[in-house]
Amino acid sequence: MKSDMDPLMVQISPDHHQSLPSAYTFTKPKSKPSIPFLLLILTSLVSVAFTLGLIFLLYPILFSGWNWTISSYRYSVVIDAGSSGSRVHVFRYWFQSGKPVYDFSGDNYANLKLNPGLSSYADHPEEASVSVTKLVEFAKGRVPKASLKRSDIRLMATAGMRLLEVDVQEQILDVVRRVLRSSGFKFRDEWASVISGSDEGIYAWVTANYALGSLGGDPLKTTGIVELGGASAQVTFVSSENVPPEFLRTLSYGNVSYKIYSHSFLHLGQNEAHEKLWASLHNSAANSPEDVVVTDPCTPKGDNLDKNSHTDSFEEGRLTGSLQAAGNFTKCRSATYAMLQEGNEKCPYKHCSIGSTFTPDLQGHFLATSNFYYTSKFFELDEKDWLAEMIPAGKRYCKEKWSELKAEHPTTKEEYLLGYCFSSAYIISMLHDSLGFALDDGRIEFASKAGEKDIPLEWALGAFILKTSSATFDYAGLSRKMLG
Ligand SMILES: *[C@@H]1O[C@H](CO)[C@@H](O)[C@H](O)[C@H]1NC(C)=O
Ligand SMILES: *[C@@H]1O[C@H](CO)[C@@H](O)[C@H](O)[C@H]1NC(C)=O
Repeated sequence: MKSDMDPLMVQISPDHHQSLPSAYTFTKPKSKPSIPFLLLILTSLVSVAFTLGLIFLLYPILFSGWNWTISSYRYSVVIDAGSSGSRVHVFRYWFQSGKPVYDFSGDNYANLKLNPGLSSYADHPEEASVSVTKLVEFAKGRVPKASLKRSDIRLMATAGMRLLEVDVQEQILDVVRRVLRSSGFKFRDEWASVISGSDEGIYAWVTANYALGSLGGDPLKTTGIVELGGASAQVTFVSSENVPPEFLRTLSYGNVSYKIYSHSFLHLGQNEAHEKLWASLHNSAANSPEDVVVTDPCTPKGDNLDKNSHTDSFEEGRLTGSLQAAGNFTKCRSATYAMLQEGNEKCPYKHCSIGSTFTPDLQGHFLATSNFYYTSKFFELDEKDWLAEMIPAGKRYCKEKWSELKAEHPTTKEEYLLGYCFSSAYIISMLHDSLGFALDDGRIEFASKAGEKDIPLEWALGAFILKTSSATFDYAGLSRKMLG
């Protein structure tokens, strides 16, 4: 054995001063070429060739994405837990040249909404699991089993949950986390959370600007978002003003940095605001002498609407004075304006448009979404001239009798019909009277979708875009998800 080892020793630790020919002369005297030695050379060559071949084959997979094979699809799930319901969004995407490619149509995007919202389980947190399980089942139906473990699932709750006590929020989130942990999806506890209103605004802004092709471009050519939700309202746009830090968000996308004003007005969503106004009218009626009639200018006239229209949230029979539905757009507009301006005298900034909250001067184009859209659509308003058209439409609607309205709109839920007098007046007092959009301001359109591809203006899309695209900034273009 020892004699066979010798030539190997020579090869493995060659003398650096010796040239190749002298290595030959070294082995020559042994006269018997060793077979194991040749075999080793051969296997080395084969394995080098094999490795090179493998690298060649895998090169496109490792360095440019493998969108041409089925397994290249990635999946991501975002559950938007809003005040009125929870909507699950299932995204399918892929990588090309190390960058994620999105397509929110066909098989690449699906969503499902279930009512009521998570916040309605405040008294029975355990029951939230049924709803979340249904949403998870829907998502699982869209994601191949083999991809489940590396597809992340997130639940982001908004204003409905923000209004609950923190410990109640946590109880509900604990139930949610338990369901998501055992869902088969990739999940971490911190992925189920109550997000801030300004995050929600930023996500919606990202969705809109992605849809319009302005994300990654000139900040001054981006589009702002005003969103009227059920429990809160968001205002988000790029501002060149000096925005106080508590309202300023900086977003980096590609090599562009955006300075964005983003604020969520809690309690000023359409449903919360309507409830709040009604509660204050109810209180004044309750505290008035018996012969005093308090009028509700935001509810169309109709005997059956007096006193009892909102009884699900108030006990019956406590009224002493009476409350009368007396729809009047102008009065409703004043009442909602007064509500939006509450606390304005305490404005600590240069300028407050709503309450005592800072808002910079409006800048650029805007899209008005959610309830701004639904009300405008209901009244069949023109997309560009809608603010001006809202006033006569609201005036006609508010003064109409309830029985007439029901007859005119037999297919619309009464619950919604009951809201349009209020919402038409509220929209004008918020956008025009408070934020200062001119009635003929062509810079603001109502919309539920945007861009050539009609991408839905849901903030969950923006959350998905930011979560997946920021990952591609790690490792100079290769995402952690691709490597892992
Ligand atoms: C960075 O910005 C410049 C213009 O400011 C643009 O021309 C360039 O393409 C951008 N680079 C990337 C990688 O986006
Ligand atoms: C609504 O209220 C305004 C202001 O109080 C009043 O001038 C107007 O006549 C009322 N409109 C109707 C239709 O009752």
